[in-house]
Amino acid sequence: MGREKPDFYALKAQKEGYPARSVYKLEEIHQKFGVLKRGARVLDVGSSPGSWSLYVLKFLKGSGFVVGVDLNPVTLKEFPPNSFFFQGDIFEPKTEATLRDKGPYDIVLSDAAPLTTGNRVVDTGRSFRLCDRVLELASTDLLTHQGTLVMKIFQGGDEKLLTDRMREQFTQVKTLRPQAVRRESFETYLIGLGKRRS
Ligand SMILES: C[S@@+](CC[C@H](N)C(=O)[O-])C[C@H]1O[C@@H](n2cnc3c(N)ncnc32)[C@H](O)[C@@H]1O
Repeated sequence: MGREKPDFYALKAQKEGYPARSVYKLEEIHQKFGVLKRGARVLDVGSSPGSWSLYVLKFLKGSGFVVGVDLNPVTLKEFPPNSFFFQGDIFEPKTEATLRDKGPYDIVLSDAAPLTTGNRVVDTGRSFRLCDRVLELASTDLLTHQGTLVMKIFQGGDEKLLTDRMREQFTQVKTLRPQAVRRESFETYLIGLGKRRS
């Protein structure tokens, strides 16, 4: 299948030891908006196979910590002491309880995505529900005052509802479709900077 053919970013990820090419999306988001900070407590939602978490852990250089949650396991070679990964569904109360136990966080990242069906209405609807849940979690004290939220959304659904809600909660809201997003993909990223007091 054409989509599986290693492209520039897939080959670069292989060479640089990242389990997925998606790392270059986070890299570009960080280069544009400076979303990562040394010493930060970071939650990575949809963390499997682990590229984003690995990028953040390298950036943190042993400071702060990373908590990763995904339906699937993370496949990193090493798990540094400032990291904690677990399998869970973000819609489940027991997952939220673990996230709260390990939190709060200064930065919430979500590259979470549903398994795609090829039906754009279904896929954008599922992506919307994931973002809606991530935003629901981030609007509580799980994400600290002045905190940052980055989340992936499939375009073509109700993403304006999300950006409107984000504007109420963050002093700045940006969108970015990084270069590493495949041409045929309809994903983009919503970035909330400077969480307001709730
Ligand atoms: C594109 S992958 C993430 C790639 C990751 N950022 C990386 O760089 O390695 C999307 C992930 O979202 C996860 N996901 C989807 N629905 C989820 C849910 N309800 N709870 C937790 N994770 C979920 C999937 O299992 C999948 O691993």
